[in-house]
Amino acid sequence: MIAATPRYTEADLETILVSKEQIRKRVEELGRDLSKHFEGKDVTVVSILSGALVFTADLIRSCDFATRLDCLRAESYGNLMSADAPPRITNPLKTDISGRHVLVVDDILDSGNTLRAIIKYLSQAEPASLSTCVLLDKPSRHSSEFTADFKGFTIPDEFVVGYGLDFAERYRNLSCIGVLKKDLQKQESHA
Ligand code: IMP
Ligand code: MG
Repeated sequence: MIAATPRYTEADLETILVSKEQIRKRVEELGRDLSKHFEGKDVTVVSILSGALVFTADLIRSCDFATRLDCLRAESYGNLMSADAPPRITNPLKTDISGRHVLVVDDILDSGNTLRAIIKYLSQAEPASLSTCVLLDKPSRHSSEFTADFKGFTIPDEFVVGYGLDFAERYRNLSCIGVLKKDLQKQESHA
């Protein structure tokens, strides 16, 4: 059988799990929930690069409280689709979060190891409060009881791409979230 050629567009998806419209509606709802939760507060939003970049950009525009934006990079997976090693913080914050309300925004809670490590790291700065918001949650993959305070969608145990989530740095620009065709996952992992 001749393997399919990747196009790095929506055409490479086998299934769409969350549509562009579902994302838009849910991000607005999350913005309303967060705006109630942080009413009158000045919040430092910490976006976890690169996966949470697209989600964060939309989410902060759905929130009507005062914000500062900072970014943090944690690396664990590289180009692989799973890893057991604890993530490393490779790009620390630019701003001082001590005594501040902090909202950490991430793309997905898979094993939960990344967000747990990030919370531990940020706690050292003694923020006034530390909350978490993830776009996607894969509860069947959690390695501990750790969970996010706010979440967009619960999804099954599938490797997904789109709306910021990548496979070997591809597909982050898709407007929906979906599962890649199986033969493309194999091809890319040998690239
Ligand atoms: P963790 O297992 O919760 O530590 O997930 C760490 C990171 O792995 C996430 O922030 C994502 O960047 C990446 N990741 C986990 N599951 C997926 C997926 O289904 N698609 C794309 N990236 C994923
Ligand atoms: Mg990530």
